[in-house]
Amino acid sequence: MLIAPSILAADLADLAGALALCERGGADLIHVDVMDGHFVPNLTFGVPVVAALAKRTRLPLDVHLMVTDPDRLLDRYVEAGAARVSVHWEAATHLDRTLARIRELGSRAGVVVNPATPVELLTDVLGALDFVLVMSVNPGFAGQAFIPRSVEKVARLAALIAGAGLEVEISVDGGIAPSNIRRLAQAGATSFVVGSALFSSADPLDTIAELRRRAKGEEPR
Ligand code: DX5
Ligand code: ZN
Repeated sequence: MLIAPSILAADLADLAGALALCERGGADLIHVDVMDGHFVPNLTFGVPVVAALAKRTRLPLDVHLMVTDPDRLLDRYVEAGAARVSVHWEAATHLDRTLARIRELGSRAGVVVNPATPVELLTDVLGALDFVLVMSVNPGFAGQAFIPRSVEKVARLAALIAGAGLEVEISVDGGIAPSNIRRLAQAGATSFVVGSALFSSADPLDTIAELRRRAKGEEPR
């Protein structure tokens, strides 16, 4: 199981502090939400910010590109230190080529699907990717309410992957908290992006531990 804190929900004036917290809490990845002001209204982390983050942490950077025409940015984000890069199905015109390029650059390749995009559309690229990121909110902002229908969507994706005889990581992003992580894990998700529930918590380190316990079905302490 992977826990990937989304630093979009951290104190943006203290990203180094957020990285240190994630390391102390035993997080597996650092999720970095790149927004271009076009694909989504918000504007966030450019290449120099990702390069600066990479220098400050040993955790792999999981770069979620919420941008139109992601191809033009792949090389620069990987060079900056992205260990994983995901592009939106809705934004990639030649998805198969884009995924091949991410892998060629030495990064792990992911595809993200918006709440309105059926996972069945990924049938023909499942063999060309390392992970699928299911959006459980509409992308653009941290702190939105979890869309319950995402659980059933994760289950359909898990069945699709199993039916193809493949092993593809299923990640979920948006509104994830100790209260819903178990349902997602049971549906087949193995990787969880968590923003507000973690960084707004009174004790973020304990919240990471609680997320793991709850995902495994252990009772809250
Ligand atoms: C939404 C982003 C998410 C978001 C998660 O566009 O992709 O990664 O920051 O934050 P929470 O957990 O607050 O929904
Ligand atoms: Zn994200």
